[in-house]
Amino acid sequence: MTEDLWYKNAIIYSLDLETFMDANGDGIGDFEGLCNRLDYLHTLGINTIWLAPFQSTPNRDNGYDIKDYYSVDPRHGSNGSFVDFMHQAERRGIRVIIDLVVNHTSDKHPWFQSARKDKNSPYRDWYVWSEKKPETWNEGMVFPGVQKSTWTYDKEAGAWYHHRFYEHQPDLNTDNPEVRKEIERIMGYWLQLGVAGFRVDAVPFMIETISTEKKVKPKMHFEYLQDIRRFLQWRTRDAILLGEANVLPKESIKYFGDEGEGIHMMFNFLVNQHTFYALATGDIAPLVKTLEDTRVASPTSQWAQFLRNHDELDLGRLTEKQREKVFERFGPEENMQLYGRGLRRRLNPMLGSRQQVELAYSLMFSLPGTPVIRYGDEIGMGDDLTLNERDAVRTPMHWSGNRQAGFSQAAKLVHPVIDVGPFSYQHVNVSDQRRSEGSLLNWMMRIIQLRKECPEIGTGEWVVLDTKVAGVLALQYTRKEKVLIVLHNFNNKPAEVTLTLKIDDTSQLTNLLDHHETFTNKGRKRTVTLEAYGYRWLRVGSPDDIV
Ligand code: NOJ
Ligand code: CA
Repeated sequence: MTEDLWYKNAIIYSLDLETFMDANGDGIGDFEGLCNRLDYLHTLGINTIWLAPFQSTPNRDNGYDIKDYYSVDPRHGSNGSFVDFMHQAERRGIRVIIDLVVNHTSDKHPWFQSARKDKNSPYRDWYVWSEKKPETWNEGMVFPGVQKSTWTYDKEAGAWYHHRFYEHQPDLNTDNPEVRKEIERIMGYWLQLGVAGFRVDAVPFMIETISTEKKVKPKMHFEYLQDIRRFLQWRTRDAILLGEANVLPKESIKYFGDEGEGIHMMFNFLVNQHTFYALATGDIAPLVKTLEDTRVASPTSQWAQFLRNHDELDLGRLTEKQREKVFERFGPEENMQLYGRGLRRRLNPMLGSRQQVELAYSLMFSLPGTPVIRYGDEIGMGDDLTLNERDAVRTPMHWSGNRQAGFSQAAKLVHPVIDVGPFSYQHVNVSDQRRSEGSLLNWMMRIIQLRKECPEIGTGEWVVLDTKVAGVLALQYTRKEKVLIVLHNFNNKPAEVTLTLKIDDTSQLTNLLDHHETFTNKGRKRTVTLEAYGYRWLRVGSPDDIV
């Protein structure tokens, strides 16, 4: 049955229209540009696009500040161009997930404008107000250091409003049944236009009822997630919710629901952080523990595994000591760090070597769950630390070595392209890598293809094998009679691993990426020698079993 669940074996590609491809030469990416690049994405092998918010916005938080949920921001095109895009994507068998950003609106949203003007406005109760200065006014900021408070006094309203994020993002009152109805209407609208689901922004905050008093903890409404799920499934039966909730394992079960009746998928922030710790130190023990701790119970629930996204690399769930080690290795300069907990860097410049990038991606594609790639990481793009906050990792896609990286004809862009150093577009771009056999892009295509050939990663049973070698992670997947073993060596020196397989003495191991490698049989033991940062995808069975 789980084979029917498309999201369990999807390959998700996350992109932001603004910085992907500009077709009309105004310096801002648009739907037409994205349509022109759909063949590229199709060839890359991805089959699901997660599109960052594209609705009308004052754009003070990269579009996560929406002022009209039923629109396309004119900078990107029109509702017509959205439908064109959906059609083009569908023709190529690509599903589209969009952001559902309903924890808050922009303060420019007409609802908030009306709510603040008039106590009797029908929209007043759509937001969260306090007549008195809340005790908790400067607690729980998501962007510490940049954001000063979570409650702000609004002169026009004569009251304080709550905002979990920046001051210009007033929180919607999701306790209000009318707000809930409107959220369903928004979902229904985009579902009707063909989206395959939603990446739900800021889930924990969206389902909380906040208090103004220090001693009263926020109340969480997990049942609301089930309501949304039910609505979604009534409208579009195989659409999904992919939640953004950086929470502890015992909490995540409440989001998924015991029987999988909550949200379908969640980003695995814990595995993400411990992966970076393992990459920085070679110590895989905390990663193994996290994998076990985040094992999903329901067959319909699924983790989304990722390396980088459009935000900072959040390391807030590591211990201080662990975080210090990751900072030391991947972001030693203060300017690389953000909000006291994360790194505003792209993957490639952090890891430095091609072997480590391959190791990280090979791991991500073989972790229990569904892989999510960030645009530009397939060619190894860098970051621009001269930009503000998280914008460092949001520079335009490098399509070619030509002016403005082939992204736009305009002289001034939404964010500048990277044009200095080893990660400049002259060195790192799609056009060159497409035509170079050993490129990262070609490697990425191969590993995506391989992930598709191994659906047991999405739907099979898995165990961590004890390799007895420090720094080598071995995962074994089983589905029906098929067995897959993936090995990752986090050490900067070679490692020899002896696997004792639960198979008969004559069974073979087949390297799925290289037909030259052979393994000698010693009873049920097979020895594999991994290079420094080496990895293997091994099918238990003869070469006949892999085709
Ligand atoms: C999470 C998003 O990933 C982030 O980019 C945004 O700033 C906040 N939610 C607020 O919407
Ligand atoms: Ca444009």
